[in-house]
Amino acid sequence: MKKIIKVILLLALVAFVFMQFIRPDKNESGYETVKVFETETNVNGTLATLLKTKCYDCHSNQTVYPWYAEIAPASYWLSDHINDGKKHFNVSVWSSYSAEKKDHKLDEFIEMIEEGEMPLDSYTWLHGDITNDEKEMLINWAQIQRLRYQKEMSEL
Ligand code: HEC
Repeated sequence: MKKIIKVILLLALVAFVFMQFIRPDKNESGYETVKVFETETNVNGTLATLLKTKCYDCHSNQTVYPWYAEIAPASYWLSDHINDGKKHFNVSVWSSYSAEKKDHKLDEFIEMIEEGEMPLDSYTWLHGDITNDEKEMLINWAQIQRLRYQKEMSEL
């Protein structure tokens, strides 16, 4: 019986070591890719810092990785969150969205903040959550930007 446990532990160790060789691609294209979004939607100062530290890790082409991102299977898990987050909302490709899509994304943005869904719980555990004041700031900003895109659409 003891021998079986040893064999299982050894196999688990081998699997863990081999896992380390499969490294997901890093999401590190730099913050230049978010400039179009920030200029168009008047993001600056406190708001820029807030988005950068609480949202861009999963919603832009630049992630600041924690140390455990180097270790599988945590690296797979982070990579999944980033890819999934970017698929739904990616500020680095903002210029490829239509005015309608931008308006819709900002609508979802407001909903996510209001419902406390974003940032993901697994993220706030280490990075801290956003405060009520910060929520209000994000929502106010998004509402103003929505009006602009809606105006743009009505002029088409
Ligand atoms: C740890 C990664 C992570 C962080 C950080 C994060 N998100 Fe997300 N976000 C996701 C994932 C994954 C999804 C897609 C799945 C889902 O909706 O839960 C998503 C979806 C979204 C969507 C699209 C929802 C929809 O209905 O398609 C919006 C908008 C959004 N997030 C906004 C934000 C904002 C704003 C912040 C910062 C306050 C933020 N997220 C922080 C991972 C993240």
